[in-house]
Amino acid sequence: MKTLLVGYKASDLSAKMLEGDVTCHVLDIYHRHAIEKVWHAKAVCTPHLPEGPWDLIKFRTGPKIMSGELSLDLMQEIHRLAPKSFELDFVGKERDENELIAKIKDNPERVRSFKAEWPASVPGGEKLMFSSYPGCFCHRRLDEGGLALAEVVSRELSSKEGAKASSLLDMGCGCGLVGLLVGSRMKAAGKPISNLVLVDSHSRAVEAATENAAKFDIPAEVILSDNGTPSRMDGSFDIFVGNPPYYSDYRIADVFLETAKRVLRNGGVCYTVCKNAAGLEPVQKRYFPEVEIIRRRGYAVLKSVKEADHVLV
Ligand SMILES: C[S@@+](CC[C@H](N)C(=O)[O-])C[C@H]1O[C@@H](n2cnc3c(N)ncnc32)[C@H](O)[C@@H]1O
Repeated sequence: MKTLLVGYKASDLSAKMLEGDVTCHVLDIYHRHAIEKVWHAKAVCTPHLPEGPWDLIKFRTGPKIMSGELSLDLMQEIHRLAPKSFELDFVGKERDENELIAKIKDNPERVRSFKAEWPASVPGGEKLMFSSYPGCFCHRRLDEGGLALAEVVSRELSSKEGAKASSLLDMGCGCGLVGLLVGSRMKAAGKPISNLVLVDSHSRAVEAATENAAKFDIPAEVILSDNGTPSRMDGSFDIFVGNPPYYSDYRIADVFLETAKRVLRNGGVCYTVCKNAAGLEPVQKRYFPEVEIIRRRGYAVLKSVKEADHVLV
C-alpha cells in the first residue's frame, strides 16, 4: 500500500500516519528537513507532486494552511495522478470545504493553468514580465518591499561607487524579483552581474525564478536551500540582497543576515528591506556594525558594509 501525504508539516504527523510505505510531499525544503529530523520519514520537496502509482493520497488543506488557488492546483495534480483512493483532511469551516469540492466537481477533467504573469521594472531598466505559481511569493502581484529594494540597489550600483559590483546573492528570491530586476538593470547599463545567485527554500519559487531568469536571458544559478549557500561561495559576493519573511520573530531574518556576513567579501554590501526598521535594525547590527536606513515606497532599506575585523555581538 503506497501512500502519499500532501500538505502536511512535521507537527501534523503522527507515528500511526507514517506506518507502511508512506511518502510526505512538501513544497518548502524547511518542512522536508523537519519531517526527516522529527520522524525519520520519507519526504520529497518538489514543485509538483511525485508520480505514482499511489494507492492512497491524503490531502490536508484549508484557508489557514494554504491559499484556495494552491488547494485547487494540488487537487488538480492529485486528480491527474489518479490514486486508488483519496482522502481530504479539510481544516476549516464546512462551508469552505463544500465550496472547494464544488469547484472541482464542476468539471474534474478540466485542466486549468494557475500560472500568472505580471510586469515589474526599475528606473532605467526594461519592463520584465515575471511568471509566478500558487505557493510562490508573490503570486499574481509584485511585492512593494521587494520593488523598493530592487530600486535602491539598482540606483546605487549604477552610480560611480557601485561600478565594480559584479557578483550578487539574492536570498529568499521568490520568483526572482529583486535579483533579476537588478541583473537586468546592470545588463542594460553595460555592467552585467557575472555571478548572480538566487536562493529560496520554496520549490515553486525556485521553479519560477529559474523560468524567469531564462526568459529574461539573465544567467543565474538558482538554489533550493533553507540554510544559506554552499561553503564554496563564502566571501565571494560584492552584494547581498534579502527581503526576508518576518513571521518568525526575526529568526529567518537572522539566518539571512548570518549568510550575508559569511558570503560577502570584505567591503561587500548587504541590503535588506522591511516595513519598520525598528525590528530588523538590531538583528542586522549583530552582524554589521553600521546600518544606514534608506526610505523608499513606505519601506526601509537597511544598508551595511562588511568590515574585515568586525566581531559578532
Ligand atoms: C518576503 S518573500 C520575498 C520574495 C522576493 N525576494 C520578493 O521580494 O518578492 C521571502 C522569501 O523568502 C523565502 N524563505 C523563507 N525562509 C527561507 C530560508 N530559510 N532560506 C531561503 N529562503 C527562505 C520564502 O520562500 C520567500 O520566497
